[in-house]
Amino acid sequence: MLLSHLLHLQGIDSVVLELRSREDVETTVRAGVLEDGTATLLKETGVGERMEKEGAVHHGIELRFGGGGRRIDMTGLTGGRTITVYGQHEVVKDLYRTRLEAGGQIIFEAAAVSLHNLDISKPKIRFRRGAELDLDARAVRFQGGTEEEEITCDFVAGCDGFFGVSRLSIPEDIRREYTRTYPFGWFGILVEGPPSSEELIYALHERGFSLVSTRSPEIQRLYFQCDPNDKTENWPDDRIWEELRTRLATRDGWTLQEGNIFQKDIVGMRSFVTEPMQHGRLFLAGDAAHIVPPTGAKGMNLAVADVRVLSRALTEFYSTGQTILLDAYSETCLRRVWNAQRFSWWMTSMLHRFHDGDDYQYRLQKAELDYVTSSRAAATSLAENYVGLPLHETTGATSAG
Ligand code: PHB
Repeated sequence: MLLSHLLHLQGIDSVVLELRSREDVETTVRAGVLEDGTATLLKETGVGERMEKEGAVHHGIELRFGGGGRRIDMTGLTGGRTITVYGQHEVVKDLYRTRLEAGGQIIFEAAAVSLHNLDISKPKIRFRRGAELDLDARAVRFQGGTEEEEITCDFVAGCDGFFGVSRLSIPEDIRREYTRTYPFGWFGILVEGPPSSEELIYALHERGFSLVSTRSPEIQRLYFQCDPNDKTENWPDDRIWEELRTRLATRDGWTLQEGNIFQKDIVGMRSFVTEPMQHGRLFLAGDAAHIVPPTGAKGMNLAVADVRVLSRALTEFYSTGQTILLDAYSETCLRRVWNAQRFSWWMTSMLHRFHDGDDYQYRLQKAELDYVTSSRAAATSLAENYVGLPLHETTGATSAG
């Protein structure tokens, strides 16, 4: 949706195929942390008005371990940069409204079945309506009775996630995939009630990781590390509160604000990258090309960074006929992607209990937290990654001049 909006601002037309229904997208709570550059882009392109009113600007995070909390002053350590807590589904709502008011075409509950002619100048997308994601089967399913339809276009932006056809349309002999799975998941809850903390708290405890986040002054988002195969039914509310109270307890008696839990979900944790992110006239963006565990809060921000690069490259192509930026797309994006992979893997490894690991590893993790929260150099490294690295959008390999 953001790509479609950015292209529209440059006078470039697009058609968006959205797998889910508008209502489903608008009501499913997903990620919530916008990097400094993401929030700025939304503001600069005219879709940041509600975010500026309703989003919460944060200047730091707390790391909690060993019964105490220590703050990372992100704004102080990064020369004034911030993060904004504003839900991904709120961003998408704002984009839907803006695109539809501008006459943009979005086909809901539709998905590509196959991509054709990617090597030549007029690729085709064959798609069907009546699509839905079958998470158990890990595949897209179509209701009976719908016909295949076709779109002919100049370029295909493969923004169709991990289960979409785009990534698989890059021939296997040129596609390389890099994966790491983690032996845990996150149990997430949404809670009615006031915040327990003004800033996000990332906590490591002997029993595992937990995270205190927020969605609005009235809705809190909390997570705790769990078995990825566990079921939400195994966790009545009392058990959840008991677990969170234990993991978040401090020596000075911090209290967790409890409230009505109105949603529970479990997500697996995985790191994944596919290379290259481009094949002919197909450009992958977001989860179609890469997945990060949520610990670094990078997923949505990486997708935004990809489409910013792609929109600039397409703008160059349509205004000058040149393909310099298009040709560099994969390399440009992968530089940021691998930096974010490293950061997300590092945050995940530092903050979770590896139950098959030994106490030596746990002691190292606590030493690392101690270091990161007491050395200005180490804290700055965390902070600059968290608010988003200011990577230049040229290829990483060449030096200027
Ligand atoms: C969230 O609020 O959903 C959230 C915040 C920080 C993270 C991950 C998720 O690292």
